[in-house]
Amino acid sequence: MIKEEIEKVFSYHKWRQKILIKDGVYTPGHIDNNIWLDLGLPQSVEGLNILDIGSNDGQLVFEAERRGAKKVYASDLYIDKLETMAMGWPVEGITILKDVKNSDIVIHTEGLFGLDSINEHFDIVILNNVLNWIGDIDLVLSTLAKVNFKRLYIADQFLTSNTTELKTVPQTKELKTFKELCNIKYLISKMKEHNIELEKVTSFSIQEKYIKKFINQNNIKSNGEVDIFNQPDQNSTVISKSKIDSSSEYLYNGFYFVRSVGWVRKEDVSGSKNKVSLLLKIINKLNLLSLYIFLKGLFRSDETSNYVLVFKKN
Ligand SMILES: C[S@@+](CC[C@H](N)C(=O)[O-])C[C@H]1O[C@@H](n2cnc3c(N)ncnc32)[C@H](O)[C@@H]1O
Repeated sequence: MIKEEIEKVFSYHKWRQKILIKDGVYTPGHIDNNIWLDLGLPQSVEGLNILDIGSNDGQLVFEAERRGAKKVYASDLYIDKLETMAMGWPVEGITILKDVKNSDIVIHTEGLFGLDSINEHFDIVILNNVLNWIGDIDLVLSTLAKVNFKRLYIADQFLTSNTTELKTVPQTKELKTFKELCNIKYLISKMKEHNIELEKVTSFSIQEKYIKKFINQNNIKSNGEVDIFNQPDQNSTVISKSKIDSSSEYLYNGFYFVRSVGWVRKEDVSGSKNKVSLLLKIINKLNLLSLYIFLKGLFRSDETSNYVLVFKKN
């Protein structure tokens, strides 16, 4: 990778997703799971048209392109500044990557409710971890139903309570950011009303990843205010001074990336790990986390669990 390309990527400080740029260099985002594999998307998408809704920094769209897709659309509420899951996402990150990767992806800035401006048939449409953020589940589904697609992947957290069709406001504190949640029975029946059939449901657990992440998380703290650099480079501009009390998983050239802040020198901060019980440490060391999660689930059930639903239009 040439110096100018690295500088472009690293001088943007809001990366959320970790994405391979080239030559083993990644964007310094904290979402490092490979979403493509989590969703069970096909190994090859050679010659296919793909649309990712809520494409964020672009992890899935660049992966689709790498796997041979013919045309790839990245749709989000892309805007210039704001940065919240419901009000818009900075277009800067995905634009930098499109440029540096010399990519042909199409960036669509109007999001789900502006998709009628695209006159295209899609082999695959993806909506991962977006439904709950938008909130109006019925409106999301009726809008999706109008898109011209062959297969639609919807992945999210769905209510675990699955006896009858159910849509409700979240009950637990951790899920209060979402206005509405539904179970998969509700989703399947709504899509049926739109003449869209379910092809496959798979469940997957992200708990193991989260626990591992929590155990290995690198917390960094400074004593007082320290220099914040634009780049992981001693000679780059100091953009501000700030007290650091954060976490960082990304160390490059002796600098930590602190999201929405910038780069701090490793020697200016001290590192620590989260406090974890000895039992959990041993369970992790012995690679028994999945058994631990299973046993925990027998005694306490969570309000939601993660599913991927694949729908097909005939
Ligand atoms: C939790 S993030 C998930 C991003 C990505 N799909 C992933 O799995 O990492 C939610 C994304 O949905 C986007 N979003 C929110 N409302 C949207 C809308 N109406 N149309 C398209 N995207 C939207 C947000 O801007 C954000 O990028």
